Amino acid sequence: MTNWQELESKYFMHTVERVPLTVVRGQGARVWDEEGREYLDFVGGWAVNSLGHCHPAVTKAISEQAHLLIQASNQFYTIPQIRLAELLVQNSCLDKVFFGNSGAEANEGAIKLARRYGQLHLGGAYEVITTLGSFHGRTLAMVAATGQPKFQESYPPLPTGFINVEYNNVDAIKSATTDKTCAVMVEPIQGEGGVNVPDDGYLPAIKAWCEQKGILLILDEVQTGVGRTGTLFAYEQCGVEPDIMTLAKGLASGVPIGAILAKERVAVFTPGEHGSTMGGNPLACAAGYATVRFIIDNGIPGKVKAVGEHLIAGLEGFKQKFPFITEVRGRGLLVAMEFSSDIAQSVLTACLERGLLVNRVKPNAVRFMPPLIIENKEVDEALGILDKALASMAK
Ligand SMILES: Cc1ncc(COP(=O)(O)O)c(C=O)c1O
Repeated sequence: MTNWQELESKYFMHTVERVPLTVVRGQGARVWDEEGREYLDFVGGWAVNSLGHCHPAVTKAISEQAHLLIQASNQFYTIPQIRLAELLVQNSCLDKVFFGNSGAEANEGAIKLARRYGQLHLGGAYEVITTLGSFHGRTLAMVAATGQPKFQESYPPLPTGFINVEYNNVDAIKSATTDKTCAVMVEPIQGEGGVNVPDDGYLPAIKAWCEQKGILLILDEVQTGVGRTGTLFAYEQCGVEPDIMTLAKGLASGVPIGAILAKERVAVFTPGEHGSTMGGNPLACAAGYATVRFIIDNGIPGKVKAVGEHLIAGLEGFKQKFPFITEVRGRGLLVAMEFSSDIAQSVLTACLERGLLVNRVKPNAVRFMPPLIIENKEVDEALGILDKALASMAK
């Protein structure tokens, strides 16, 4: 049998410490390795496989579109792109859409849009305030936006124009605002930072401040969007409408896509000011349309809320038995469990050995971001495995 992991180390740049598992097939909330071993997947392609692996609605849309048209250049009109844009606008508070290929690309475009808006309407203001512990992507500008030194320190000099301030602290945003500020960009819940849920008043207070100052609120919903937190978009839960919102991960159930959505008055790009060769190609947009249509038509966000509460209750229930669990936090199917010491890698390995995939989001925390279509019985199965894995930690 081919040793894929050895070949990977020979040919692939070492950018990630991989889990020793080669995934060859997926169906619903399960994946299989080369030897046919089955795993319950609570990583979900890293909050990407909204409808699970190989959902028939998505595979049908992809295969039909693949036979019709995969790519035609954005110089021409293509129908899936327009249909997906219409669907997103009709189901959000935003008016205009631009498609790219990833979360980082969507966020880059959002920053460009905010800077262009600043040039036109805010006397040339260009600075964007972001938060510590955030994650906005891996391009140079998004590394500067991402308030985590570990992603920044290898790449000086970083692009300027970003100020990283404390999360969940609106006064920090107020103090950092100057006449050079054009926007504030935050995640409604910090995903990569460890599933950090801010206080209820945080986003409304930022919004009020942005309105007072005439600056833009950009919500990075790359991870929280498309049903993940129990509403189609996380902003719906805090009564705040962003001026710009970015999406990616779950939007097309695993086919690469990213999107910038903006209010009409903020959508100030003119022809030639932004673009992407493959962004919004018919294949990705057909998968995106099938995904979002299914999520809306089947009331998936409401189901995510209920099944997420079941998951959180189950995890909370472990606290008494395993006192080294210090906190369970999250919304919908974006949930983290934190420990009193750095045992997340050992918990991940113990789960893997028992057939459950989880993510180590911090040295002392694991994260669960399963497909949005999972049901309580799959959560119970995962909790059963986790129970045994946690018991093995206690020994
Ligand atoms: C909130 C957020 N923004 C942006 C990104 C970057 O997305 P991508 O990896 O698709 O570039 C991520 C990825 O984890 C994310 O969680």
